[in-house]
Amino acid sequence: EKLVSECNGTAESVCTHCESGHYQQSWTKERHCAPHDICEDNAGLTVKTQGNATHNTVCQCRAGMHCSDTSCQTCVENQPCQRGFGFVAAKAMARMSSPCEPCAEGTFSNVSSKTEPCHPWTSCEEKGLVVKAKGTNASDVICESGRRSSLSVLIPITAAVVTCLVGVCIYCLVHTDPKRRVQMQ
Ligand SMILES: *[C@@H]1O[C@H](CO)[C@@H](O)[C@H](O)[C@H]1NC(C)=O
Ligand SMILES: *[C@@H]1O[C@H](CO)[C@@H](O)[C@H](O)[C@H]1NC(C)=O
Ligand SMILES: *[C@@H]1O[C@H](CO)[C@@H](O)[C@H](O)[C@H]1NC(C)=O
Ligand SMILES: *[C@@H]1O[C@H](CO)[C@@H](O)[C@H](O)[C@H]1NC(C)=O
Repeated sequence: EKLVSECNGTAESVCTHCESGHYQQSWTKERHCAPHDICEDNAGLTVKTQGNATHNTVCQCRAGMHCSDTSCQTCVENQPCQRGFGFVAAKAMARMSSPCEPCAEGTFSNVSSKTEPCHPWTSCEEKGLVVKAKGTNASDVICESGRRSSLSVLIPITAAVVTCLVGVCIYCLVHTDPKRRVQMQ
């Protein structure tokens, strides 16, 4: 309500309802109600809650947009989250600021996207592998087989042993065959 006439020695105060599209939130001596905010469509705003006689209209940005500053008089289109940044659904819901957040340590995003969140690095340990290259905010950890190091020792040793055995066999064949042939003759 707003004040029509203030009380005096003989008469009570007279008040009247706010006209439509106006509101008045508390006890007041004001003779005018304040007009509801208008959510400007071409600023990207829509009505979040419609005002009534006691509350102002609350505006918010349209879906896919966020406030251009803290006063939120205008909205800007959400941009794709760049590499190293991930999409945060809760921030997109709030529509107050960009839905993109830098990937925290231990997570990465290797794509520019309007929907992809940061993903946790692959755990090489879980897969029974070892880390070949560390992860960054824009790339996953690269794993490799932990047996590779032992294989790189085993292969030359095996090769050497096989070569020796083959050598011994050839030696034996060459030196035993004539004798056998002699004995057989
Ligand atoms: C009190 O207010 C009423 C209504 O506004 C007015 O008619 C009356 O003259 C006022 N009386 C005094 C004493 O000011
Ligand atoms: C006016 O709007 C406010 C906020 O939206 C709400 O809490 C309140 O109940 C409404 N009052 C009436 C009378 O509808
Ligand atoms: C990602 O990491 C690089 C190198 O550590 C750093 O310069 C860059 O600021 C980081 N980007 C983000 C979005 O945190
Ligand atoms: C992003 O990382 C994932 C997981 O490591 C990989 O499968 C994919 O190919 C990468 N995409 C690009 C564009 O690098």
